[in-house]
Amino acid sequence: MPGEPKRLEHPKSVYIIGFIFKIITLTVLIAVIYQITFSKHGPGLLIPVQKKMGEKQRSAILDEVRREEEYEKHRHFHHSVQYPQLPENMRPVCYICHSDYPHSKNKKIRAMLNMHTQFFVCETCHIEEKFGASVVYQWYNPLDDDPKGPFFGTSYDSETGNLMEVADHFSKIAPYFKVGSRVESAIQIQDAPLAQDYVKVRDKLTPEQRDNVKKKFHVNIKAKGHECKKCHAKGSILEFKKLGFTENRTIDLEQLNITGMVTKYEKFYIPNLFSE
Ligand code: HEC
Ligand code: HEC
Ligand code: HEC
Repeated sequence: MPGEPKRLEHPKSVYIIGFIFKIITLTVLIAVIYQITFSKHGPGLLIPVQKKMGEKQRSAILDEVRREEEYEKHRHFHHSVQYPQLPENMRPVCYICHSDYPHSKNKKIRAMLNMHTQFFVCETCHIEEKFGASVVYQWYNPLDDDPKGPFFGTSYDSETGNLMEVADHFSKIAPYFKVGSRVESAIQIQDAPLAQDYVKVRDKLTPEQRDNVKKKFHVNIKAKGHECKKCHAKGSILEFKKLGFTENRTIDLEQLNITGMVTKYEKFYIPNLFSE
């Protein structure tokens, strides 16, 4: 409007300079706050609080599982092997409710028992004898009806002395019921109808109902697995030769006489291993 003084705008540069100063102030403020709260070089006022929160989020169970897994990896033979996992519906039924590391009660041998699940299905140790049938052990591969091997752990690499690397990572030794000349698998696979049904409804079941279902899955399962010397001795229930183990590997397994391997566990239970 005429007469009124024209409103003066600040030049643009002033805004820019102001903005820069605001940023600098903010940065300094944040740095100062960090310095007195969390920084290790300042008084660290909030560090105890931060630690407490971290502790709450950590789970003792998860820690234990991770430790055990780490342990198992290093324990597994002389070097660690990455095992590919099977698709969920092809894994044995036991894994619906039990983990890869199902043994926890007996501290002295649990890692050792868990290690065996890498090359055995559970039933290899937990199978209950059935009247009128004998139990025989064969290699089982969910992806191959007639696995031919070579299988992991059956022979040594003559150059390195380590166990031979193999392409077959899925085959495990499994029990079969043998009646006359008929041989049938003694294990349940996860996509068995009952197992699938259980997965769908398990959240709706009461503890008692779950217990009843559990009993169905535990048919032919005994609570205690085979003892070490059922296998690691002459006259093993495993026919090592038929399973493809070489002669020197068989002797080592029967005597469990592997340099470095025994010493660590010797104190605990190897002395009792061969005593009658
Ligand atoms: C429906 C879930 C479920 C399935 C499937 C299942 N279990 Fe169990 N199992 C349990 C529960 C629950 C327990 C008791 C809690 C515990 O001791 O960890 C148990 C306990 C056990 C025990 C310890 C002895 C006992 O009876 O308490 C063994 C051994 C066992 N299971 C083996 C197996 C094997 C081998 C398979 C696969 C054939 C299997 N389980 C499948 C739920 C299941
Ligand atoms: C090398 C043989 C062996 C294999 C393979 C094996 N178990 Fe066991 N299992 C045992 C023995 C032996 C015991 C008894 C341990 C004890 O009481 O000291 C046992 C005990 C158990 C228990 C109850 C005690 C505990 O340690 O918590 C459960 C649950 C169990 N086994 C589940 C399984 C499942 C599931 C699998 C397959 C993933 C499996 N086992 C494979 C030998 C074996
Ligand atoms: C059902 C038979 C069976 C039972 C029971 C069994 N083992 Fe084994 N164990 C084997 C076989 C077979 C191997 C080798 C598997 C492979 O390398 O593929 C093995 C491997 C081992 C190894 C590693 C040896 C190596 O050179 O790789 C040790 C150690 C061992 N078992 C100790 C034990 C102890 C201790 C127990 C009892 C708590 C036990 N085993 C129970 C069959 C068994």
